[in-house]
Amino acid sequence: MPTVTVRDFRRSDVDDLYEVCLRTGDAGQDASGLVSYPRLLGDIYVGPYLELAPEFALVAADGVRASGYALGVLDTASFERRLEKLWWPHVQATYLSASQDVMGEGFDGELLTLVRNPQLTRHPHFPEYPSHLHIDLLEHIRGRGVGSQMLATLFQRLRLAGSPGVHLGVDAANVGAQRFYRHLGFVELSRVGTDLFMGLSWQPSSAGS
Ligand SMILES: CC(C)(COP(=O)(O)OP(=O)(O)OC[C@H]1O[C@@H](n2cnc3c(N)ncnc32)[C@H](O)[C@@H]1OP(=O)(O)O)[C@@H](O)C(=O)NCCC(=O)NCCS
Repeated sequence: MPTVTVRDFRRSDVDDLYEVCLRTGDAGQDASGLVSYPRLLGDIYVGPYLELAPEFALVAADGVRASGYALGVLDTASFERRLEKLWWPHVQATYLSASQDVMGEGFDGELLTLVRNPQLTRHPHFPEYPSHLHIDLLEHIRGRGVGSQMLATLFQRLRLAGSPGVHLGVDAANVGAQRFYRHLGFVELSRVGTDLFMGLSWQPSSAGS
């Protein structure tokens, strides 16, 4: 079994991390057979975090390549505003003219709908959980405590930066990941379509006060 190291993101990890995103992009399962544009998923769910919030980007390296990531942002609303100015125009220029043929069809079609209408990627507003995160590991490094270790490090960084709590979206079909998050103390916040939102607060409970 390879030794896995958790470390800060480096620019040279980008292609590996896009690959991790693709290999875990179908509710935690490999999405590579579902898409015609292999980088599109990463351009939506990984690239913006590496570009706009690299200080909260952690990598799990297995000695050969980067095989997992935990990506966070401190404040979701301001991140989304920055995305609209700094990220989406570039993604739209890359995909929208070349993609008329698959627009609206299958998984690619769903992703291209997001590129065309980035407001659909906005998260619900969770004032007590303003930060959010994504975590994905390739299969060969799962189940060994790496995910827990990465999130402990990410939580420490977010808290030090002043975050009172973090949320995430998980596919309702991805029950394994939901168990993992519950194990870490996340609770269900809301459901939007097939997305379940979960949150973890670091504030002392106000119950009874
Ligand atoms: C979900 C994921 C990040 C968990 O990371 P991990 O390193 O495998 O998890 P850990 O080994 O740190 O597990 C911590 C605890 O959660 C539990 N857990 C983790 N994954 C689980 C799963 N799929 N089903 C049930 N329990 C799970 C473990 O049993 C463990 O409990 P223990 O401490 O009592 O043994 C990882 O498995 C993964 O990337 N999965 C595929 C992609 C994915 O679904 N990402 C989430 C998208 S929202």
